[in-house]
Amino acid sequence: MIVITTPTGAIGHQVLNHLLKAEVPVRVVVRDPARLAADVRERVEVIQGSTNDVEVVNKAFAGAHVIFWIVPPDEDTDDLEGHYYTFNQIAASAIKAQHVQRIVWVSTLGSDMSKTSGHLSAALAADKPLEETGVAARIVCPATFMDNLMWQSHP
Ligand SMILES: NC(=O)c1ccc[n+]([C@@H]2O[C@H](COP(=O)([O-])OP(=O)(O)OC[C@H]3O[C@@H](n4cnc5c(N)ncnc54)[C@H](OP(=O)(O)O)[C@@H]3O)[C@@H](O)[C@H]2O)c1
Repeated sequence: MIVITTPTGAIGHQVLNHLLKAEVPVRVVVRDPARLAADVRERVEVIQGSTNDVEVVNKAFAGAHVIFWIVPPDEDTDDLEGHYYTFNQIAASAIKAQHVQRIVWVSTLGSDMSKTSGHLSAALAADKPLEETGVAARIVCPATFMDNLMWQSHP
C-alpha cells in the first residue's frame, strides 16, 4: 500500500495518476473526497482529513509500505517555519508509531541559502524531524516546477 498526501494538488495528483496507471494499491489522505475525480475515488482507499491531524496521519500510515508526503502550502500563515515543522513533526511521530519503512517527501533546493529565505528555509528546517526518524527516504528537492510557469502563461 502506497499512501499519497495532497492527491488533489499540483504534485500529488500527478503522482497519484502515475501510480493508478501502474495499478498499485493506493491510499489517499484528502480533506474533501469530492475533490477527487469519481473514477479515481473508486480506485483508491480514502482517509478523510487534514495531514496536520495526528489521528488522521496515524490512520493513513498504518500498514503502509511507502508514504508520499507533502506539506501543503499555506499562503496566509505568518509562521512559515512553524507551519512546515508542525506537519513534518506529526509525520515523523506517525512514521515511528506505525513502523513505516520508506518515505518520499518533497523538500526544496536551497540548502546553501540564508535562514531568511521564506518557504525554502522553512521547508529545509522542517526536514529535520523526518530525517531523525532514520526511515529510508527519498527527498525530492525541486527548485520550482515547469507547471508554475505553465499556469501563469494561460490568463
Ligand atoms: N510547486 C513548486 O514549484 C514547489 C517547489 C518546491 C517545493 N514545493 C513544495 O510542494 C508543496 C506544495 O505542493 P503543490 O504545489 O502540489 O501544492 P498545491 O497544488 O498548492 O496543492 C495543495 C494541496 O494540499 C492540500 N491541502 C491543503 N491543506 C491541507 C491540509 N491541511 N491537509 C491535507 N491536505 C491539504 C490541498 O487539498 P485540498 O483539495 O483539500 O485543497 C491540495 O491537494 C509545498 O510544500 C512546497 O514547498 C513546491
